[in-house]
Amino acid sequence: MKPLYLMLSMFAIGLTSTAALAETASLSEAAALPNVSPANSELVNRGAYVARAADCMACHREDYSGGVAIETPMGDIYATNITPSKRYGIGNYTENDLKKALRKGRAPDHMIYPAMPYPSYHGMKDEDISALFAYLQTVPAIDEEPENKTDLPFPFNIRSLIFFWNIINLPAYETRDDLNPVQQRGEYLVNNLEHCGTCHTPRDSTMGADNSKYLSGAQLGNWYAPNITPDKSSGIGSWSENDIVTYLHTGELDQRAYAGGPMGEAVAHSTRYLTDEDLGAIASYLKVVPAIETQDTITEVDTASLPAPINASITHDLLAQDDYLTQAKAGVDSNSPEGLYLNVCASCHGVNGYAQPDAGYAPIVGLSSMRRKNPDTLINVIAHGVKGATNIRPNMPGFSEELSSEQIAAITNYVRVKFGGLQTSEVSAADVDSAMVVGSQKPFLIKYAGVLAIIGILVALMVLYFIIRAVLRSRRRP
Ligand code: HEC
Ligand code: HEC
Ligand code: HEC
Repeated sequence: MKPLYLMLSMFAIGLTSTAALAETASLSEAAALPNVSPANSELVNRGAYVARAADCMACHREDYSGGVAIETPMGDIYATNITPSKRYGIGNYTENDLKKALRKGRAPDHMIYPAMPYPSYHGMKDEDISALFAYLQTVPAIDEEPENKTDLPFPFNIRSLIFFWNIINLPAYETRDDLNPVQQRGEYLVNNLEHCGTCHTPRDSTMGADNSKYLSGAQLGNWYAPNITPDKSSGIGSWSENDIVTYLHTGELDQRAYAGGPMGEAVAHSTRYLTDEDLGAIASYLKVVPAIETQDTITEVDTASLPAPINASITHDLLAQDDYLTQAKAGVDSNSPEGLYLNVCASCHGVNGYAQPDAGYAPIVGLSSMRRKNPDTLINVIAHGVKGATNIRPNMPGFSEELSSEQIAAITNYVRVKFGGLQTSEVSAADVDSAMVVGSQKPFLIKYAGVLAIIGILVALMVLYFIIRAVLRSRRRP
């Protein structure tokens, strides 16, 4: 196993030391909005911003050609081509068609699966939809179908059934009337455009948003979107508004949090393009949503107990760092938790967790994923790796093939104590195994919908039989 990650990290360092610097520079202010140009009308440019704020690209891709798979318990649903192609895209849409698709989930000739967040877009303002429509007409048409097409098993392939789902689950949110104008803007961004709740609010048995647990954290396959209510013990109550803005802007918060996986995507495609006003509005609104305390408590970071950064003189000297790592490994049993960390992780994240500053790997000191009571996200990061979307360096590989569950548990415990600052951590090999299957568990109704639908059809046939029999009998009567 060793040569693989050594090679990876060497390759990575060579490739990225210059690129990383360029990237840091570009993230220090709101990223320039692609597709915005003075040649376009103001309406079109506003539409480009709305598309960013509503994160259409996360699923329809940066060129709107579609094809990203949305994993759902029913199977993968693929985003479609929404370029102005008449044949494969939405070139025949009127503005009103777009409005219906966004607010009601109705395309001109079919119902749209709620993998497209229309329950959130339901509250989108007229002027934003007009701007979006004007803008979408200016993007280059792509006359191709995405490679993959949605093909869900029975009964989910009957799109008209979505009608009943919509009756129960639309709209996803009500607006509050006790907010100031800034918070109102934040509410609109969080609930309607950015649809943060599609990941951070758990779903009920019908896969609709469970608003009694609004923004209090939800499982997303192998990831967990944490509690972002202002609760102090399990949410982000200790974050200042500025912290929230920094995180949404850069995907990182020093010694506190890191946006990997799905949140990395949200930052990369959307939040880093938002204006300071809009990010501030989101932060201000998140401070006034009801605080919800969950089981998944988070230990406050105790900076004093965290390892200090490596000495400044070797910070920019990669060979010296390599020596430093070799020294650290000397005399450490390579099968001990520390030895495993040094052998498997330290070539990228550094002996002290501050990463190779020049290579720009994620510093992992103090991260919230290490301080949570529930270690599942951390376990899955180690097992499956991370593909951060803002990351222009090589990704973090997964180690589920190379390491045993015992070894993953040992590393998890080691980093939680050393870099998370926890007193103890007692993750076992069995915890590792169960964390790795969490993502495949399905909510009751979805799992059994096949059975329920068959029962439903049997009941319907029986009713039909009795009706027909009754009709025939009444005819026979003289
Ligand atoms: C979380 C992923 C996601 C996001 C974000 C998203 N979409 Fe979609 N969208 C989908 C999926 C998946 C489908 C296809 C659903 C289906 O097959 O029923 C879809 C379908 C559509 C359709 C229907 C196309 C047709 O078949 O006629 C339109 C229009 C559309 N999206 C526009 C948008 C716009 C505009 C945005 C941004 C405001 C957006 N979408 C954001 C996932 C997404
Ligand atoms: C596609 C799913 C998705 C969307 C959309 C999304 N998030 Fe997240 N979010 C996540 C995941 C997953 C994490 C955990 C990241 C990690 O551990 O690397 C996260 C982490 C966070 C954190 C850090 C919490 C902590 O304790 O470390 C904050 C704050 C946050 N999200 C806010 C938001 C806001 C605000 C929005 C809307 C603008 C949003 N998220 C949209 C999935 C999402
Ligand atoms: C080949 C280099 C490499 C190796 C080896 C590596 N990582 Fe990473 N790690 C990364 C990169 C790059 C990121 C940032 C991911 C991104 O943004 O794409 C990261 C991110 C992380 C994160 C933050 C993820 C989050 O969203 O909270 C943690 C925690 C982490 N690594 C722990 C580890 C541990 C523990 C090991 C050893 C088992 C390890 N890494 C091995 C490169 C590596």
